[in-house]
Amino acid sequence: MEQDDLGATAPTGTAIDYETVNVGALVVGAGAAGARAAIEMVQSGVDPEDVLVIGKRSHGDAHTTWARGGINGALGTHDPEDDWTIHAADTLKEGHFLNDPEKVETVTRQMPDRLRELDDWGMEYSRTEDGEIDQRYFGAQSFRRTAFAGDHTGESMLRTLIERAQSLSIPYRENVFVTKLLADDDDRLLGAAGYDMDTGEFVLFDADVVVLAAGGYTSLFQRHSSRDDENTGDGPALAYLTGASLQDMEFVQFHPTGMVGDRYGEEWDGRLVTEAVRGEGGRLYNTEGERFMERYSPDQMELDARDVVARAIDEEIEAGRGTDAGGVYLDISHRDRDFIQERLPRMYERFADLGVDMAKEPVEVAPTAHYGMGGVVVDSEGETGIDGLYAIGETMVGVHGANRLGGNSLAETVAFGQVTGEAVAERLLAGTTPARDKGVLHDRARQHFATLRTLTGRDGEYDPETLLDELRGLLWEAAGIRRTDDEIEAGLTRLGELQRKASNVALGQRTGRAFEFALNLGFGLVVAESILRGARERTESRGAHYRTDYPERDDAWRRNIDMHEDSVGAMRLTTEPVGTPSDAVQAALDADYELDYHQLE
Ligand code: FUM
Repeated sequence: MEQDDLGATAPTGTAIDYETVNVGALVVGAGAAGARAAIEMVQSGVDPEDVLVIGKRSHGDAHTTWARGGINGALGTHDPEDDWTIHAADTLKEGHFLNDPEKVETVTRQMPDRLRELDDWGMEYSRTEDGEIDQRYFGAQSFRRTAFAGDHTGESMLRTLIERAQSLSIPYRENVFVTKLLADDDDRLLGAAGYDMDTGEFVLFDADVVVLAAGGYTSLFQRHSSRDDENTGDGPALAYLTGASLQDMEFVQFHPTGMVGDRYGEEWDGRLVTEAVRGEGGRLYNTEGERFMERYSPDQMELDARDVVARAIDEEIEAGRGTDAGGVYLDISHRDRDFIQERLPRMYERFADLGVDMAKEPVEVAPTAHYGMGGVVVDSEGETGIDGLYAIGETMVGVHGANRLGGNSLAETVAFGQVTGEAVAERLLAGTTPARDKGVLHDRARQHFATLRTLTGRDGEYDPETLLDELRGLLWEAAGIRRTDDEIEAGLTRLGELQRKASNVALGQRTGRAFEFALNLGFGLVVAESILRGARERTESRGAHYRTDYPERDDAWRRNIDMHEDSVGAMRLTTEPVGTPSDAVQAALDADYELDYHQLE
């Protein structure tokens, strides 16, 4: 985001105070991906004082804690025939072959090691009677491959990673908002600029390398599974505005089962009812008592891919077979209470607090925006087109294609965290990070801080939080579960109006929420344009991108769409061919493994 989008003009020549933090590697984002990258750097020999992890929230409160049902890796605890090539084949098939096969291999090949490593570091996995790491069914996976800690896998995993990072003395700084990445005219990273959200003080990170692990962008949709102030698109927007490319931003995953606000209260609207409920046998019913997945997917039933189940639920609701609150029923009451409490403790407790006994009655669910498959284009080590700038986790693109498998996001965080952490460490230790001109760094930082200072306390006609809500409604309508050209065009027109209003928002002080919302809005507008432009360009249906005016998959569209800023600041779209899988993964694809849902019944 350029703060100029918010209507400011920076004065020149004025002195400006800011704190400068010198560091080798700055990790922006303190969830699983960021923590794992930092751990790898230090384990590879980088001095912990030369690494800094920063986050917008308080320590330990990253979005990872909301990841519930599990993390994939072909351990074969129950199904010894499973292996990493089949994991890769499932990932490619359900990604409708838009994934980068090399990145898929990078993740799936190393996941058994990453899972065991977390075990060694103290993660409290659920276990079999023999003490093995247990694995459950998850959607569209040929075997039980999803390791878990009850239904609080992300929480347990992040705690483990933080403890590991603390044992390595890796520094962490909380409540810092990175507002701009600074690069020179030759696309070399110079550092990062932002402010301390507690004091409002400007901070310049004089960093050789920046790793963006700042999450995705699905909070920009009306119903979303994240908290409102996370996954607002900062990561992709920061990278794009520095000159990196985005890709496939139109692919937004709608998780089939979000809580229904009209039934459980607005504060819960869209929050996840984990896929693990279905993985443990949960069944979907409409108000006519029909187990409707028998019509949509008789073989894989409730455990078909998320895009298929989400569209089925949406269709049932549209056809008038939804509840008064706007959902359908998800029922696991045929399982014993003890089983539910052991396998799904957080879900059980949350619904009990809301007066619903999952052991006796169904809960109401509807689709919710959950994961952005699109993101920043990176190479095999996680580096963007800007020398010294890396992106990992949900911020990067490549692993998931047109539709992500549940359990693959946590997998990607630790897999690319390890790969990128190692690559960054090698560069720091070998002294091959970009040559940086500190004079240019400070000049650019001062200019940016002057712009932010001009915005601080500014009065304006519009409230940024209200405009953010408008943006969420716009994307939900124009780029939701089903899309048409007319809706996307209407969305782009409304986006233009929002962009105009955004230049006249009231911001307040830097320590206030309005300032933060205004920045989120600026980033969100950039990301929204990329989603809508990608959705308009892709005249086919594939995975999570469903065009009712182009309902079929079109082989000519087995291409990625790249988005980059041209020299006059306009977003340009180009398409790129997708790579081919290795022989080993192709053999697994040819064997055509598939989940047999009926084993679960
Ligand atoms: O439903 C879930 O527990 C979500 C898992 C995931 O998105 O990987």
